[in-house]
Amino acid sequence: MKGVILAGGLGTRLYPLTHVTNKHLLPIYDKPMIFYPIQTLVKAGITEVLLVTSGPHVGHFLGVLKNGKELGLKHLEYAYQEKPDGGIADALSLAESFADGNSVTVILGDNTTDADISEDVRNFKEGALIFLKKVDDPKRFGVAVFDEKDPGKVIAIEEKPQSPKSNMAVTGLYMYDSRVFGFINNIKPSDRGELEITDVNNAYVKEGKLRWAELKGYWSDAGTFNSLAEANNYWANKGGK
Ligand code: DAU
Repeated sequence: MKGVILAGGLGTRLYPLTHVTNKHLLPIYDKPMIFYPIQTLVKAGITEVLLVTSGPHVGHFLGVLKNGKELGLKHLEYAYQEKPDGGIADALSLAESFADGNSVTVILGDNTTDADISEDVRNFKEGALIFLKKVDDPKRFGVAVFDEKDPGKVIAIEEKPQSPKSNMAVTGLYMYDSRVFGFINNIKPSDRGELEITDVNNAYVKEGKLRWAELKGYWSDAGTFNSLAEANNYWANKGGK
């Protein structure tokens, strides 16, 4: 399977750090943030990757990642998101020709995890697969709503709800079949003006085609000062890798 890393956005929650460079090039312990999602994909056997990015420091990526070979990639392609904060689904729409009718594994560029998803990648056939993780602060994330009668079934995802219906956050790791691009074409910008990945996931829920798995291992995003510090601490204590 091919992989897509979404590393657009303006990183406004990390100003003034993101006046220096793109959020995804800021350090997490001993390497730039973007190395972590790349490693997650490579560990899962995904070595053909599209990186979607944007923003004022977009050129910095080439100098750091080059052709991706040093990180174990066989093919690294870049796409430019014209509206840097158009939303995660807007960024993903740029991967349509790269996916070329096949399924893709998608990871957000500010997510770090030591989970091994190789088996999920090998077994993925159709629909969508999302990875959930129990968190203390669900209001910050997309949150799964479970069926009261069938607690293993996700009946909706709510984006940053005021009153979360569970503490299971949607992590920034997703697998989609090729229908994802059709679903993106049909969604409208949210109140914050973004094409939301949560709306895409809900389109799969409506068709009964969304599955979920619990992400095993450590997971954190790094898009706020607190989560960036937390991710730094975790990887420092672990000694990198
Ligand atoms: O980290 C997991 C969470 O990520 C999910 O639980 C949420 O459902 C999902 O909406 C997202 O929430 P955030 O508000 O944390 O997303 P953020 O705007 O920080 O964007 C996360 C990454 O997505 C960012 O590092 C780069 C990429 N992105 C984001 C936007 C808005 C793009 O490539 N383009 C964009 O336009």
